[in-house]
Amino acid sequence: MIIPEITAADAAEMIQHGDLLAVGGFGPAGSPKVITPALAKKARREHDAGHDFKVSIVTGASIGASCDGELAAAKAIDRRLPFSVNKELRTAYNRGEVQYMDLNLSDNASHLRQGLTGEITWGIIEACDIQEVQGKLRIYLTAGIGIAPTICRLAKKGVFIELNSWHSTRIIGMHDIYEIEDPWFRAPVRITQPIEIIGMPYIEVLPEHVKGVVHTHLPDEARIMNDATPVTEAIGRHVADFLLWNMKKGYIFRNKLILQSGVGSGANAVMGALGSSPEVPNFSIYTEVLQEEPMRLIQEGRVMAASTGALTLSPEHLQELYQNINAYRGRLLIRPSEISNCPEIIARLGICSLNTAIEVDIYGHVNSTKVSGTRMMNGVGGSCDFTCNSMLATFTCGSTAKDGKISSIVPFCSHVDHTEHYVDAIVTEYGVADLRNKSALEKAEALIAIAHPDYRPLLREYLEIAGRNGGHTHHILPAAFAMHDTFRRKGDMRLTNWSEYILD
Ligand code: COA
Repeated sequence: MIIPEITAADAAEMIQHGDLLAVGGFGPAGSPKVITPALAKKARREHDAGHDFKVSIVTGASIGASCDGELAAAKAIDRRLPFSVNKELRTAYNRGEVQYMDLNLSDNASHLRQGLTGEITWGIIEACDIQEVQGKLRIYLTAGIGIAPTICRLAKKGVFIELNSWHSTRIIGMHDIYEIEDPWFRAPVRITQPIEIIGMPYIEVLPEHVKGVVHTHLPDEARIMNDATPVTEAIGRHVADFLLWNMKKGYIFRNKLILQSGVGSGANAVMGALGSSPEVPNFSIYTEVLQEEPMRLIQEGRVMAASTGALTLSPEHLQELYQNINAYRGRLLIRPSEISNCPEIIARLGICSLNTAIEVDIYGHVNSTKVSGTRMMNGVGGSCDFTCNSMLATFTCGSTAKDGKISSIVPFCSHVDHTEHYVDAIVTEYGVADLRNKSALEKAEALIAIAHPDYRPLLREYLEIAGRNGGHTHHILPAAFAMHDTFRRKGDMRLTNWSEYILD
């Protein structure tokens, strides 16, 4: 069998204006790195020649800067989904230059199969090895999977593989690749504990479907996490105490603690603090992204087993993992995003989810995505998959942002990703608001109690004024965004004067 060896530029030449590219990997982990920069170069050339050149891009989640950053800077992206953390791209979609579709990650592969996303023209995936067995190719992936199995099956014109020797073939055997059937013919996804293999360690394709292999030797483009702060450490301690209290009450089982942790520096630090809390029993993880701190906890034996969509680690830590990979066999699995975020499994495993909020309102609605209700930060990612299906759905956030000028707890969220019906608890550095079995006003009291002390009187005042209107959930709609509006006008929410917003 001969798979054509091509250059990144050769691949870029085959890609045309208007194509839909589906890119493998999950976050920067396991995402291709050389074809998209070559495509950005081609786009610039085409633009200079006065031609239109834009492609649409679907990925597993966010992706490395070599895709989103390079293509956004070259103004070569038309439509993009389902999630991104890239700053250049964020600027482009907040300026309206890129149509950005923010989608639950668990829905991404099924939307592709249903045809909702459009027809995939080309797939681009990264692999550490390709083997031919009985006339078929077995593709072994690297540190993340995302939607690679679906891409390989559906890409109309074929798949480009970046064969990256930086990733060790020692990772072979750590993937559990399984594609969910379409509704009406869907079998149960029979995962009953985090480490239970239901799929294959490779993706199988016909050789003619692979349009070319590009050899590379490049590390993943993982972001460096911010260090823990006194705020994230305090949040971690409150989360630990809250979990222990739930165990004592019998709401969750001590010996069956399975956690999911979200993305970003906050989530990373909270996980670290949780692991350092000696009273929290050893636990397992079922999540979409394993960042630095949970990996350390696996190493230390605090985390017994972990299922993830990606290993989002610094290059040194990933190489260290490859060196010692045998210590992780049987304790760590990497899965496609529709399995790492599968609602059925999240519900079955009784997961306690820990995601990060941008803002929370006094009735327990959560905004994870849009600053001031308008500017997209990253996207909902898998936070909705986990929040809607977890046994205990928790959000954490510092009580303030921007040096105290913004309260994370507000009268009304400027955008809602997670409604009060799914959110069980909110944790700030001031404590835990357990929202379960609470009426709207009881939720408000609990949430105001964990707001920053500078904002508690302001929020109480709002609740008191709004209460004069009566109703089950107290609001005065013209004043509900007064804190946001005050920040917009005066640069500090603490300067809110309710009388300016209450007309009678
Ligand atoms: N108003 C305005 N800005 C706010 C804010 C608020 N209420 N709360 C936070 N911010 C800003 C911060 O100041 C920071 O700005 P900067 O980048 O200019 O410094 C930025 O938002 C990120 O905040 P930070 O505290 O550094 O967050 P993080 O790295 O822990 O990420 C989220 C937090 C919410 C952005 C991130 O977790 C996310 O994208 N979540 C949605 C997806 C998700 O949950 N996925 C996991 C599912 S498994």
